[in-house]
Amino acid sequence: MESQPSQTMNGAPGRALITGASGGIGAELARLYARRGWNLVLWGRDAIRLEAIARDCRQCGVNVMVRALDLQDGRAAIAAYREDDAAMPIDLAILAAGLGDMKTPDEVTEKAEMVLELGLVNYATPSAMAAAAAEAMVRRRRGHIVLVGSVAAFHAIPFAAAYSGSKAGLKRFSESLHMALAPHGVGVTLVSPGFVDTAMSRRVVGFKPCLQTPAAAARQIAGAVERGQAHLVFPFLFSILRLVDVIVPWPLKRWILSRLKAGQVPRGQISQ
Ligand SMILES: NC(=O)c1ccc[n+]([C@@H]2O[C@H](COP(=O)([O-])OP(=O)(O)OC[C@H]3O[C@@H](n4cnc5c(N)ncnc54)[C@H](OP(=O)(O)O)[C@@H]3O)[C@@H](O)[C@H]2O)c1
Repeated sequence: MESQPSQTMNGAPGRALITGASGGIGAELARLYARRGWNLVLWGRDAIRLEAIARDCRQCGVNVMVRALDLQDGRAAIAAYREDDAAMPIDLAILAAGLGDMKTPDEVTEKAEMVLELGLVNYATPSAMAAAAAEAMVRRRRGHIVLVGSVAAFHAIPFAAAYSGSKAGLKRFSESLHMALAPHGVGVTLVSPGFVDTAMSRRVVGFKPCLQTPAAAARQIAGAVERGQAHLVFPFLFSILRLVDVIVPWPLKRWILSRLKAGQVPRGQISQ
């Protein structure tokens, strides 16, 4: 049993909105917060998987709403966030949805359409949703926003420019938002995971050091929220690699990074 009380810090019942709740880390976060008694608003694209997770969560006796929406439509996401918040205030917004992709072996870099899609899903829409959440939370002088980035944000990755670039943008946005919202009683946590065993990482062919389970990832994220931590990086190995990236001179770094190789199973071939 989880020990966390089912209440926000001011004693009101907690309500969390989670994007990417139809699979992987987002689904585990939904189950964890349901066990802790939080009412939930679960977003995803696949309505059938989303409803199955919602059913699991309702078994814990909490109220669960679902919303199937493609985050490539950022304006629809902003409007939907405001609608869900107006229906009942959201205390915790966890923006976990994301897309991992890289170039194919025969491409020099990713296709323009893929760069746009990753930019929208991994950076533009979660940032805009965080701004919509901030608007409402600052008015209430309480709330917490979680942005799920990636350790890929720390490094220039030649075969995944769109992924590392979109997550780097999200990282900078989150750090800026954290400073802007702190005086208003609203918390922001950036989460930078390494490899977590989900459909996304199962598409990656190659060495995946310190692979974590989605349940372990969810527990660490919830812990960071409780502590009001600005940035969570896990597992620890990636904090070291981040430091190495900062201190190694650029010519050596470029030599190492440009020799990195990874492959990826095409989309749709790995199920959740
Ligand atoms: N797994 C890892 O190793 C790893 C490492 C670093 C960072 N991360 C980050 O962790 C987060 C969660 O990833 P995960 O590993 O749980 O991946 P996952 O199992 O593939 O789940 C991704 C989630 O994002 C949703 N999503 C993807 N594209 C979407 C779109 N266009 N509109 C709406 N929802 C969309 C998916 O919805 P549907 O399934 O319904 O389409 C799914 O719920 C991502 O931000 C990812 O970048 C993961």
